[in-house]
Amino acid sequence: MYLIETEDNVGFLTASYIKNRIETFVSTKSKPYFVLALPTGGTSVDLYRNLVKFHQEGLSFDKVVTFNLDEYVGLPENHPESYHSFMAKNFFDHIKIQKEQINILNGNAADLYKECANYEEKIKNYGGIDLLIGGIGQNGHIAFNEPESAFDSSTRVVNLTSNTIAANARFFNNDISLVPTRALTVGLGTIMNAKEVIIMATGPKKAQALYHAFEDKQSTAWPVTVLQKHPRTFIIADKAAAAEISKTTKQNYGLCSFIN
Ligand code: GLP
Repeated sequence: MYLIETEDNVGFLTASYIKNRIETFVSTKSKPYFVLALPTGGTSVDLYRNLVKFHQEGLSFDKVVTFNLDEYVGLPENHPESYHSFMAKNFFDHIKIQKEQINILNGNAADLYKECANYEEKIKNYGGIDLLIGGIGQNGHIAFNEPESAFDSSTRVVNLTSNTIAANARFFNNDISLVPTRALTVGLGTIMNAKEVIIMATGPKKAQALYHAFEDKQSTAWPVTVLQKHPRTFIIADKAAAAEISKTTKQNYGLCSFIN
């Protein structure tokens, strides 16, 4: 796991890396599709803005399939705060991509367990995730893998913690009772199987989670710590999010740019 600390261009750096990876993939054509896993959340808005800009400048998604990391259970797909709506509004409505290339968990499926098993299977059939982009929760969750999630967990139904429900209430008129209490999420095991992982973190509210990510021992209390053993994880953080990480740790884990 590596740390890339940057001023305020977390979204731009992440988008640039995705662009580079897609373009390299297209030039080598080792398999039919580049498999890109995508997050939602406030932090990712700037990532999608930059990706849409790159698309307008010529970046093609023709050879990309996407898998979103998570979705609420029981929220209608067309609800403005569903992750389906978020993705359409911030990304998919602005790029040329076939519906069949987009995968988002269906939180309204009649059989949620089957929905999760099929999702996991579909990822495998595409040859696994090439590049997974995630945000991070204040409690260190990745996707909706809340504290105490098993490090080898796969795609499944989860209950959200009160901390996450409170943090996400800002998207639901600050009314906690409107926030769904369950979600579908890819597992920490699914994330660990991705060839590369980028976690984006911005703002002071993420500082404690990043402190644990880099300064603490691996523990299910802070799900992000699973990534300490992932060989190609880059955490891209702005100054505020990286504020609690010690100078020594920054020297040990810090990179000024991505490794090629
Ligand atoms: C949400 C999502 C996560 C996201 C995180 C951070 O609960 N399920 O996938 O990474 O919270 O969100 P934000 O960027 O809005 O802080």
